[in-house]
Amino acid sequence: MDDETIRPGETAIELPIAYDASIYFIGHIRTPWTERGQCPRQGDRINGPECRLEIDARWREALTSIDRYRELQILYWMNFARRDLVLQVARGRDVAAGTFALRSPARPNPIASSIVTLLRVEGNVLVVRGLDCLDGTPLVDVKPNYDAQSTGKPTP
Ligand SMILES: C[S@@+](CC[C@H](N)C(=O)[O-])C[C@H]1O[C@@H](n2cnc3c(N)ncnc32)[C@H](O)[C@@H]1O
Repeated sequence: MDDETIRPGETAIELPIAYDASIYFIGHIRTPWTERGQCPRQGDRINGPECRLEIDARWREALTSIDRYRELQILYWMNFARRDLVLQVARGRDVAAGTFALRSPARPNPIASSIVTLLRVEGNVLVVRGLDCLDGTPLVDVKPNYDAQSTGKPTP
């Protein structure tokens, strides 16, 4: 499902020969979407469908107190995106823009971010609303959104 297409007006570069760092995927995201065309362009944290963040068991303790937050920032790895585009023509546009001026999944490090609503915690699964990625997309990180109100639950 890797995206090797390039549209008129887009520019690809040669990638560096080595990576500078490695990351751990902390789990996977379960969503209703199996093809990119089915995914929303941006998630809807009010009306979007419920999605599940399945955190690997080894990180379970790292979820302690997460239910104090109504909103979370989710970072995830767009594993089917190409990484070599510097100019891109977004869907529905006819003029190219720089990769860093877009929220396209195609970028040198294909990390996406979304603010989601936390609906509930089921063991090592966070049930949320507001995602826009394919079923099975690798999860990179979860952080509270301090800009949103907390649930008022006391700090342990
Ligand atoms: C425009 S990006 C926005 C991602 C994130 N909300 C952000 O702003 O960083 C969302 C799109 O990425 C594409 N996409 C979803 N999951 C993907 C994956 N695992 N690999 C590559 N592309 C993906 C879909 O076309 C989806 O509509």
